[in-house]
Amino acid sequence: MRTDYCGKLKKDDLDRDVTLCGWVHRRRDHGGLIFVDLRDVSGLVQIVFDPKRSGEVHTIGHSLRPEDVLQIKGKVAPRPAETVNPDLATGEVEINVAAVEVLNRSETPPFSVEERGDVDDNLRLKYRYIDLRREEMLDNLLLRHRVSRSARKFLDNNNFTEVETPVLTKSTPEGARDFLVPSRLQPKKFYALPQSPQLFKQLLMISGLDRYYQFAHAFRDEDLRADRQPEHTQVDIEMSFMSEAGIMGLLEDLMLVLFDEVLGVALDKPFPVMTYDEAILRYGSDKPDLRFGLPIVDASDIFRGSEFAVFSRALADGGTVRAIRAPGAGRFTRREIDEHTDFALSHGAKGLAYLIIKEGLEVQSPIAKFLSREELSQVLDATAAEAGDIVFFVADTVDVAVEVLGVLRPRLATELELVEPGWSFLWVTDFPMFKLDAESGQIVAEHHPFTLPSAETVAFLEDEPLKVRGSLYDLVLNGVEIASGGLRIHKPELQRRILAILGHEDHQMERDFGFLLEALKYGAPPHGGLAFGLDRLVMLMAGLSTIRDVIAFPKTQSGGCPLTGAPAIVDPRQLKELKIRQ
Ligand code: AMO
Ligand code: AMP
Repeated sequence: MRTDYCGKLKKDDLDRDVTLCGWVHRRRDHGGLIFVDLRDVSGLVQIVFDPKRSGEVHTIGHSLRPEDVLQIKGKVAPRPAETVNPDLATGEVEINVAAVEVLNRSETPPFSVEERGDVDDNLRLKYRYIDLRREEMLDNLLLRHRVSRSARKFLDNNNFTEVETPVLTKSTPEGARDFLVPSRLQPKKFYALPQSPQLFKQLLMISGLDRYYQFAHAFRDEDLRADRQPEHTQVDIEMSFMSEAGIMGLLEDLMLVLFDEVLGVALDKPFPVMTYDEAILRYGSDKPDLRFGLPIVDASDIFRGSEFAVFSRALADGGTVRAIRAPGAGRFTRREIDEHTDFALSHGAKGLAYLIIKEGLEVQSPIAKFLSREELSQVLDATAAEAGDIVFFVADTVDVAVEVLGVLRPRLATELELVEPGWSFLWVTDFPMFKLDAESGQIVAEHHPFTLPSAETVAFLEDEPLKVRGSLYDLVLNGVEIASGGLRIHKPELQRRILAILGHEDHQMERDFGFLLEALKYGAPPHGGLAFGLDRLVMLMAGLSTIRDVIAFPKTQSGGCPLTGAPAIVDPRQLKELKIRQ
């Protein structure tokens, strides 16, 4: 239907007769001439309806409204010098329309494609096909495609085989709730949608595949956040006979290729590595953003026996005093400081003490009167604080203190404009195997129950499980966990021990994971891998702050799809077939 794409026409095309198809982006009338920006997937070009050339064509031009679909024929002409548009790729040319066919009319769209405007999120999702016509949204889809294409090519070049694993399956625990699908043929039984292809990729290693990957949809029934959807895409990878360092090196190479091919950015490797313990103690997070400093400092030794009872009491109770220096925060108003305090309280702190540092050893603070000059001078030494800064303190258990300062840290960095532009990759390693679930008091897997415990700590399994470290690594980019993986257990006895520690009785073990325990008996090779979150990576590469904008048809906060109306009430007949009572 066309000879060219709108957005590709250049001066080289002058005098050519072209046929174009696209949407009316914008129409302007100027003393009889009608100018229309015609849009297709490649961009815009200006087309001109001139009453002098054809009255009939001009009449149609006059009737055009935004989002009408056209096919036009015309000649590529230079734009008069004063109307050249340097902001438009096709800004030096325009098309004199000789013939036009309106392929379809559009009703007035619920929001403008042309203007950025503030559009309600639900409305955007309800009319997602119109939202996706907007340049920035289309660009996101194209970027995502380029990332996927580069990743596939890289994996193919490195001898990986793509294998699809089932979506109707059994629970694959990754720490979230399962989505269940009732079986009609076997009433009362349910499939679970995979939280990841974890067990299938391990089975593929046992089958001798050596190197597997898949662009896998993973389903997790958990509360949504800006970087969490109930259904996300992982680039899932598994390898046999590889060391932890080998697997991490492969993902680094993949990231280098993606950033080079897609963004033209040259990254350096190896990426920095930090243990989980260091990340938690120094940055209060297992995914610290290192585009800025603001480390957490242990100020406990300064305040033992302090006159400031809040600190000395916390220390006497076995707690800690941790501090963070906020460079330049001296300019905060009282109200801004109070907002930070409220934020700290909402994250479980009992208070947020602060010192506004002035010249010399002078400080301004409600707690200044309780602190000695010696304490003040030690605080300045320990935090390297200078005049114009604020030092914030949390006295509490270590866990609470670093967690609160850990969430305060990025907030302060953003407000103080300390976030350096760029790409800050970080490996976080040596995660604990287990953690205590606050609600149930039960030991649960930090990652998933198939992780290999580190050789140094495996001996603590039964007696002090919380001491055991997993062979685990997460890749963090600018404070977002983009990938996660580890080495796996390949011996059935060890897998049984881990499941037992997680509270599985023998019969449950057989029922839930019997197939895995069985498979591990038949020559399972040492293996490991990882998965990276495609949505999160593309979100960061696009400079966005929510994965919704890089997913074609995402869900709302309440897990709904305003476009299709999912989840929906189903026909009672369907429920009856499934033997489900209403
Ligand atoms: P994990 O659960 O860490 O590991 O998931 C891997 C990566 O997927 C992304 N991700 C998500 N993205 C969007 N929405 C979500 N709800 C969501 N959940 C996770 C993250 C994360 O790093 N089987 C293991 C991988 C392995 O061990 O090989 C797994 O699924 O970027
Ligand atoms: P109070 O003695 O409770 O009035 O607190 C005096 C100051 O210390 C206030 O600025 C509180 O926010 C702060 N504060 C109270 N408890 C803590 C705590 N556990 N850690 C840090 N600061 C605290």
